[in-house]
Amino acid sequence: KPTEPIVVEGVSYPRDAFSNATPAILDKVPRRLHLDPAHPIGILRKLVEDHFSSFEHLNSLSPIVTVQQNFDDLGFPADHPGRALTDSYYLNRQHMLRTHTSAHEVECFRAGMDRFLIAADVYRRDEIDRSHYPVFHQMEGAYVVDPAAGGIERLERENAEMQKELRAANIEIEDPTREETPTNPYQAAHDPRSARIISEHLKNSLNGMVLKLFGPQASQAGEPLRVRWIEATFPWTGPSYEVEVWFNGQWLEILGCGVMQQHTLERSGVGHKQGWAFGLGLERIAMVLFSIPDIRLFWSRDARFASQFRAGEISTFKPYSRFPECYKDVAFWIPSADEAREAGREKWHENDFMEIVRGEAGDLVENVQLIDEFVHPKTGRTSRCYRLNYRSMDRSLSNEEVNVMQDKVVERIVSDLGVEVR
Ligand code: PHE
Repeated sequence: KPTEPIVVEGVSYPRDAFSNATPAILDKVPRRLHLDPAHPIGILRKLVEDHFSSFEHLNSLSPIVTVQQNFDDLGFPADHPGRALTDSYYLNRQHMLRTHTSAHEVECFRAGMDRFLIAADVYRRDEIDRSHYPVFHQMEGAYVVDPAAGGIERLERENAEMQKELRAANIEIEDPTREETPTNPYQAAHDPRSARIISEHLKNSLNGMVLKLFGPQASQAGEPLRVRWIEATFPWTGPSYEVEVWFNGQWLEILGCGVMQQHTLERSGVGHKQGWAFGLGLERIAMVLFSIPDIRLFWSRDARFASQFRAGEISTFKPYSRFPECYKDVAFWIPSADEAREAGREKWHENDFMEIVRGEAGDLVENVQLIDEFVHPKTGRTSRCYRLNYRSMDRSLSNEEVNVMQDKVVERIVSDLGVEVR
């Protein structure tokens, strides 16, 4: 109810104009897939932990963080799109479901941790298809040293060791970001030589991790593992990079990373340290390593899914029969900004529509596709037709139950979004 507080894990959050976290999303909070040692997400988590075995491992940080932790402390500008109500889930103006594990960096640095690895569930409002789900998992890794205490020399020694291992491995690293560039410069606060050593340590560490995750499959296929480094931007790192891995004939983007911005370390009370951080997405990697065709399967409670995996093992998922799909179309006029305002509603945003579909049909919708759009020549209004593909992972759906869900979706887009159904 609009006046009752939102309760998550026994804590109450008073509602305000920001509150947009739905029961369908909050229901996922207790699942903690990353803690299940025999679930693909938990198996992958453990593999990454083994690679960073000297790091402190943190796996139970609450998904509810302050807006300050998720955005402000990391230097996100006030108008960054990720902050929008259409992109993130808020409990209220101050509290939100974290959109990334970076939300915990500052508190970890502040607690004096020099090397840590966090695994956690993260939440983002998004479209509906086989590879998008509003809850997914990330791992955050960070490594900082104190240059005054010989930290940079330590990184240099470790670099030499890691490089030796990488040279002996069957890996092809494409790295056009090796040199500093005007668009991805070292920080003014950094001596260029240490910045380079930190950046190389970051790259060696992550190339080693990628080799651990993807190397066995590549060598089975008799191919070298191909990795490429790409320039990126994040408000709390510089220089910043993304990493892609060549897998099954395409580049797969798996992580973002960079050299920690000194201002972020200063905000954490450790301005005398320098280092790096990365954030790795687990679902996409698990989907390719375990051959899992649909992201909803991770959330399945069907024993035919769960029984296929063993702790510590990367195995190939054998799909059980795909149940038939059933699709329903809905066409409507999108309210113009003026119409929306008159009706006292926010501007139309596709993610609000997706949220209603998720609320009414949950995991029974496989994807939502825009199949037609046109602008009325006289009124200038836009009409859209969306196709909702219903399919259960576990059973056959009846046309009647799909109709019930579709009717509810239509009812709610009219009442909540103010669209006019055609
Ligand atoms: N948090 C970033 C993301 O979700 C990834 C990242 C982590 C980038 C740490 C830089 C440093 O995309």
